[in-house]
Amino acid sequence: MFSLNFDISEFLTQYWQKKPILIKNAFPNFEDLISADELAGLACEEAVASRVVVTKPDDWQIIEGPFEDYEQFGEKNWQLLVQALNHWHPDSAEFINAFRFIPDWRFDDLMVSFATPGGGVGAHIDNYDVFIIQGEGQRHWTVGDKGQYAPKNNDPTTPLIEGFEPIIDVVLEKGDLLYIPPGFPHQGQTLTLAMSYSIGFRAPSQQELFSEMADALIDTNTGLKRFTSSDEPKIASQISSSHQQDLMALITELAANPEYYQAMLGKMLSQNRFELDICEPEEAYTAEDMSDYVAQGAQLYRIGGLKLLKLEDDSISRIFVNGEAIEYSAAIETEVQQLCERFTFDNQQTAMLIQTPATQALILDLLNRGYFYFGE
Ligand code: SIN
Ligand code: CO
Repeated sequence: MFSLNFDISEFLTQYWQKKPILIKNAFPNFEDLISADELAGLACEEAVASRVVVTKPDDWQIIEGPFEDYEQFGEKNWQLLVQALNHWHPDSAEFINAFRFIPDWRFDDLMVSFATPGGGVGAHIDNYDVFIIQGEGQRHWTVGDKGQYAPKNNDPTTPLIEGFEPIIDVVLEKGDLLYIPPGFPHQGQTLTLAMSYSIGFRAPSQQELFSEMADALIDTNTGLKRFTSSDEPKIASQISSSHQQDLMALITELAANPEYYQAMLGKMLSQNRFELDICEPEEAYTAEDMSDYVAQGAQLYRIGGLKLLKLEDDSISRIFVNGEAIEYSAAIETEVQQLCERFTFDNQQTAMLIQTPATQALILDLLNRGYFYFGE
């Protein structure tokens, strides 16, 4: 079990999105989620997003995966980073559970790093929240205050920065956690061969929301209302203030109407940035197959990283999954809530769920889309 050894409500009020914090021994008796060898093997696969960062005296070099071997990198000054471990390694689901005090829609991925001494990506600033948890080995982390920092070597193209004064300066050891909100400069340097885990959370920008909203309006052929005016400016070449306001009010009106924005948000926020390991069955399951599997003791698993989201105060009974809305009968609200809350269902829980025909139909649909699978 991965249980966090700190006060979550205090964390949420004092630190989350506000300031960094170091929590020593946040996960007592922490064990690595994956071995370095297994991680290196995963990074050989095309579908898995991986990269090696080689630290140079005044720069760094990024080599995108997949990788066939690592000999060329030697014994120090490099780091292998694998994104979305939770999509490919079912055992990591339990670890993700420990962070579900932040809603699922905000979760981005679990990135794993295997670093050799001297390896590190250099000082930088992220625009997402990250929890860094140390596994085997030791890494030296510094975190500075929010502010404006010069790009490294005055190079406008580099994501690296320089010149921050540490407000946190610590050697992370197994089970320690470092939380860094967006905007705080940080740098991790590797002291001994080390595994570490970064749980990242996303926050859509106005640009992303606008673009998603425009796509949704085009897809549904909505938002066709046009500007009308009742008074005109005296100066022909002028776009009057009232015309400017009335034009922009057309957007505000849409953006304030749940009928327009709810489905857009559900679809947008249920998508993943990294590829999912979708397990579509070769032949579609029938309701009978499903009952047989369950009678033989099968358990039900959600594929790693898949989000099953519901909107509070939704006008329709629907879940959002991988960018799509799936409707269900309001009578199975409790069962759907369980499907959204849990990643796995033991045999007894699965048997209970499929007792109701409408839940059985929904699970059958999710299985046949490859979003759930049966296992032992
Ligand atoms: C690292 O593990 O060095 C990268 C994590 C980060 O800086 O966000
Ligand atoms: Co970072």
